[in-house]
Amino acid sequence: MNASALVCFNRECRERFSITQVLYNCPKCGGLLEADVARGASNAAALKKLWRERRMCNTTLDQSGVWRYRELLPFEDHADLAVSLREGNTPLLESRFAAQYGGLDRLMFKHQGFNPTGSFKDNGMTCGVTQAIRLGMKRVACVSTGNTSASMAAYASAAGLHPIVFIPRGNISYGKLAQALEYGARTLQVEANFDRILALVRELANRLGIYLLNSINPFRIEGQKTIVFEMLDQRDWRVPDWIVLPGGNLGNTSAFGKALRELREFAFIEKMPRLAVIQAEGAAPFYDYMQSSDAGREFHSIGNPETLATAIRIGDPVSWPKALLEVSESNGVVEKVSEQEIADAKAQIGKCGIGCEPASAATLAGIRKLTAKGTISSDADVVAVLTGNVLKDPDYIYRYHTGQLKAPNGELLRSTFGNQPEVVPNDAEAIAKLLAS
Ligand code: F0G
Repeated sequence: MNASALVCFNRECRERFSITQVLYNCPKCGGLLEADVARGASNAAALKKLWRERRMCNTTLDQSGVWRYRELLPFEDHADLAVSLREGNTPLLESRFAAQYGGLDRLMFKHQGFNPTGSFKDNGMTCGVTQAIRLGMKRVACVSTGNTSASMAAYASAAGLHPIVFIPRGNISYGKLAQALEYGARTLQVEANFDRILALVRELANRLGIYLLNSINPFRIEGQKTIVFEMLDQRDWRVPDWIVLPGGNLGNTSAFGKALRELREFAFIEKMPRLAVIQAEGAAPFYDYMQSSDAGREFHSIGNPETLATAIRIGDPVSWPKALLEVSESNGVVEKVSEQEIADAKAQIGKCGIGCEPASAATLAGIRKLTAKGTISSDADVVAVLTGNVLKDPDYIYRYHTGQLKAPNGELLRSTFGNQPEVVPNDAEAIAKLLAS
């Protein structure tokens, strides 16, 4: 068995590095890095059985919906270092109403908002912070639209490391900012957008010897692969036709594609589901790129991305080369949706009793659009990934339901499925009359 290694993602380079080198890009060609995972002797059938048995086991590693799948993670001799908050273990929820809204017969949500800090970032962060421990790092940092910072703050503090969080001032929800503060992160609000702050933090990380935990970090991507492992495990390895997810910095798209390629390569599955990546209209550089069919097309970032789904308000997604490979490999598609479409889809998910944060709702909005176009057929087997918890952004919810939600261009959004709170007098008679109608 070869040991796990870091490998340059650039297909022309493929230079290999030790798994314990502190690297975010290939020193030879500047390309993105990925982990090449060492494989044990177990075959797919044996691992499927082992992973199922581990669900019944009470050890921390087996209770984690990430570390349960450790045979496909690059920590072969170091899983005992794992920093776990019992991440993963998120449900697959079926909703007839949401399916109907999306133009489907059936729809399942894989709800990552059930994670310890309320988003899918925990799946990746448990691995990222464990790698920081393996490397002996003391301080960790990230720039974030909110969820990464909440997650990093929690895991770093749980591990006794010092988290430093950089966020775009005024452009993240209070729920997420509050988490970073509560979990003890040193929190720096910078007067710039996500993309500009990422460049700044990369420079500072190198200069100050701080470990960077953005999704450019390949160990984050490794952890996020387990969202797909767990999803398929929960479906007894029946592969859906489509997996639909929101796209921002495109780390999750990269992770899902890598997970699926590995599962196919190691004979866990025979066919690949198609990936559908949904972006917000005002922050859709990957969509724009995929629309162009020119051979020599270039990736154009967006200088001032805008969307109320602040989690995906990203104009220069670092992982786009990986996402490009994964969407192509899966014969996938990229779609974009408007602010109104996101807001209405979100209210529909809420009305199913499920709920999610705005970026997550881009999935249902995208499904509705893709079924209307005929790209996804109504009888397709679809899993949509809800990336964050409904309580991440309560301000958005209140404004939508009370008809006060304004798009970034100042336009008032329709409160199509609004549910206004009503003010009533302290009078049983009057309230009974109101409820009788
Ligand atoms: N959904 C939510 C709730 C997110 O927080 C993010 C990204 C995405 C979707 C997009 O995922 O970047 O992998 O394509 N949030 C990051 C953050 C950028 O800083 O929390 P992606």
